[in-house]
Amino acid sequence: MTAPNDYGESNPLETNQKILICDDAVAACQRAANLFAAAIHGWPDLKIGLATGGTPVKFYARLVQLYQEDILNFEAVKTFNLDEYIGLAADHPQSYRSFMNEQLFSHVNLDPANTFLPSGIASDIDAEVQRYEQQIADAGGIELQLLGIGHNGHIAFNEPGSARDSRTRLVDLTERTIQSNARFFDSIDDVPRQAITMGIGTILEAKAIVLLATGGDKADAVKRAIEGEVDESNPASFLQTHANVTYVLDNGAASLLERRE
Ligand code: GLP
Repeated sequence: MTAPNDYGESNPLETNQKILICDDAVAACQRAANLFAAAIHGWPDLKIGLATGGTPVKFYARLVQLYQEDILNFEAVKTFNLDEYIGLAADHPQSYRSFMNEQLFSHVNLDPANTFLPSGIASDIDAEVQRYEQQIADAGGIELQLLGIGHNGHIAFNEPGSARDSRTRLVDLTERTIQSNARFFDSIDDVPRQAITMGIGTILEAKAIVLLATGGDKADAVKRAIEGEVDESNPASFLQTHANVTYVLDNGAASLLERRE
């Protein structure tokens, strides 16, 4: 095992809120992955929260690479995903469980019993969301959470209007989110209209958070998240109330920020 410094990053659980701006999307994904690697190195039984979407694909590729190079060991790590589509079984190609299998789980030494996502086909959704919250609590809570950001400022599937203290629950997706995510499906009609998502309150209980955003199309959402008013109309703005968030951005996503630290 190499020392944490070999990742070029300190453990994000031991640092404060900061904004890291990288040259391009690949560099941002690698830097975010290096933060996770440093944290897992420090705490091999780390509980990590994971996100899906187009943005983190290269993030997961970097984690897989570190595993293949024998630098990173997932043996005792537990993972909790942010969300899952309603109506998609785990083996549906567009389920978030399938995404995680393809991008990370099937390539590293994570114990399948340590990979948690809500079930999108549970017969009793109320029981399922409570079960998921309980699984997180039973593990002792999430220590390091990865987030992406939607064009409308959503985090996980907490759409505008989500309360700061919201918990894991069933949500309706907005038309904008359905349109944004249609690229992963054959037709927009195939995009589920509902999902189970961790709540904002659930997410904010993570000890540390890494928000990864890349591309100029996310610049407005990123600016409003970091510099905008903290308000339900902009769910990502609630991250301003958390003590330890690292924003890992590429130049495009950071392009509208006034403060570029
Ligand atoms: C989905 C996910 C979010 C993710 C967002 C942005 O809606 N539920 O967790 O952050 O998409 O995804 P992308 O990275 O594809 O822009």
